[in-house]
Amino acid sequence: MNSEDESSRLEISDVNKQLIQEVFKLEADGHKDARELFKEEILGFLIQTDDGSYTLSSGKRGEESETLHSTFGARTEAFQKFVIPSKLFEKAQNNDVIKVLDICSGIGYNVSALLDYLKDCDVQIEVDMVESSLETIATTLFVPDICESHIYVKKAIESYLIENGYLHYNKVLSSIPSNVTINIHVCDARDFIKNCGNKEYDAVFLDPFSPAKCPELYTVDFFTHIREFLTPTALILTYTASSPVRSAFVEANLYLGEGPKFHRSGGTIASRLPDLIDTPLSFSDIKVIALSDVGIPYIDPNLNDNYQTIIERRQNQRKTSRGVSTFPSSNKLPRYLGLNPNDIEDISLRNKLEGYVRDMGFVGLNDERIMDMLNINPDLTSRDKIINLKENLHKLLNDN
Ligand SMILES: C[S@@+](CC[C@H](N)C(=O)[O-])C[C@H]1O[C@@H](n2cnc3c(N)ncnc32)[C@H](O)[C@@H]1O
Repeated sequence: MNSEDESSRLEISDVNKQLIQEVFKLEADGHKDARELFKEEILGFLIQTDDGSYTLSSGKRGEESETLHSTFGARTEAFQKFVIPSKLFEKAQNNDVIKVLDICSGIGYNVSALLDYLKDCDVQIEVDMVESSLETIATTLFVPDICESHIYVKKAIESYLIENGYLHYNKVLSSIPSNVTINIHVCDARDFIKNCGNKEYDAVFLDPFSPAKCPELYTVDFFTHIREFLTPTALILTYTASSPVRSAFVEANLYLGEGPKFHRSGGTIASRLPDLIDTPLSFSDIKVIALSDVGIPYIDPNLNDNYQTIIERRQNQRKTSRGVSTFPSSNKLPRYLGLNPNDIEDISLRNKLEGYVRDMGFVGLNDERIMDMLNINPDLTSRDKIINLKENLHKLLNDN
């Protein structure tokens, strides 16, 4: 399927979109008060999160919808998971220009948090906001202001919508500071990445819906393209700690580490250079990524496959590799590899785990050959540990 197909993307609900389309129509017909007329109805779609900022619900892929942000606090999440760990404040002290790629801009919270964070820095800030849904960025104009910087984002969005003939009246009474440039790109992020030419960014905010729902923006191929746009000291920030996402970073030739936790859930930070990673992944997580089928990443060779094709491709790879070229991820087996089975108090779990490894020809979880495989240099980076473990696993299973 071509990525231009609207129905292939997970975005806000169709009813929300229809209301925005009504606003576009009315303004085109000369109704200056169209936005005021629809304001209450559109506000009805907003969900207030715990810090007072807002989010929206997605449409559906499968049974459930997701929210665009953490319900624990949309604005807090923008600061904690994207802006603060990006190290752009430190960079702004030494650079004249800071360039950021904001993938999946939604209602612009990550960008407004960025502008807020750097507001006292003497630096030019250039942001490329990439969002596939015109209606979502237009909904931003209805979101109650949470800070002055969000009004700058609204101004940029309104100007874009007017320049492109969707809206016709200047209603956002603000001007963007002269050191800030916000470029809006309404397109599939995969198309942006394929066609944007020679770009260079100091940080990439990667904020799609969850990998299980939106795998197309977490593939090895997508990350390989993004890597080309990173300055040597740039970081990619994402809120997800999912194993296939982390292994995709490794396959895309990036170093990686733990992102900050926000309400128990962690994130991931990736970069071209190892020294920029402050917190390595735990060995337990590394074992899962390197040794089990859950560490098999999403693949999208031409950056245009439908999300179902991408999911099925990985499911098939998992099925053929499980118990053959990788340990099964069932019952969190990889976390227990190398442990003395007698330390596992739950006898039924112990028996299951021992059964999985025996099926693969080992005497137990702490079989000497498994212990040898796990014996890698503890000083390596998380990336190199994953690569080393994979190589050891390959050798072990081939010798078995
Ligand atoms: C989790 S929300 C992002 C929230 C946003 N970063 C913010 O600060 O408000 C995910 C967004 O990704 C957008 N999206 C989904 N598929 C996309 C694609 N293929 N390319 C670009 N944007 C996409 C959705 O429309 C949605 O607005």
